[in-house]
Amino acid sequence: MASDAVTLIMNDHRVMEQLFDRLRAGAGDRQLLLDEIAARLTAHSHAEELQVYPSLPAGEAHHGADEHHEAERMLHDLQRMGPDDEGFPDRLDEFIATVGRHVEEEETTFLPSLRDAVDLAGLIEMGAAFEQVRLQELAVAGISVS
Ligand SMILES: [Fe+2]
Ligand SMILES: [Fe+2]
Repeated sequence: MASDAVTLIMNDHRVMEQLFDRLRAGAGDRQLLLDEIAARLTAHSHAEELQVYPSLPAGEAHHGADEHHEAERMLHDLQRMGPDDEGFPDRLDEFIATVGRHVEEEETTFLPSLRDAVDLAGLIEMGAAFEQVRLQELAVAGISVS
């Protein structure tokens, strides 16, 4: 079913928050979970940068991309460290807090300004383009999504 970019982005934020909670709870194969989070976060960020941020004011787009890079850097540190490292839980909390601030800013500032700038037909078209990039990157990373 076609959906607009704002709805798709917010839904994907909720999916990632659930994965963060599972990783923080320490259940299951944490390395696998960390790899899935890395793939999903990277795919989401790239799809935003390619298909969504170009429609935002330039200042917001640059700021958002900087925050993506910061989150990706923290994620690479976590992956290098591994879930069994004693420092992992604290670094994970920092990463989740950093991503949480970005998501909040996106949902309270970026996405509302996108809704003001683009009509519904445009947002639906943008949603399809966002999903195409996101799903393609996930497929390359070997993550299957329904
Ligand atoms: Fe986002
Ligand atoms: Fe983002």
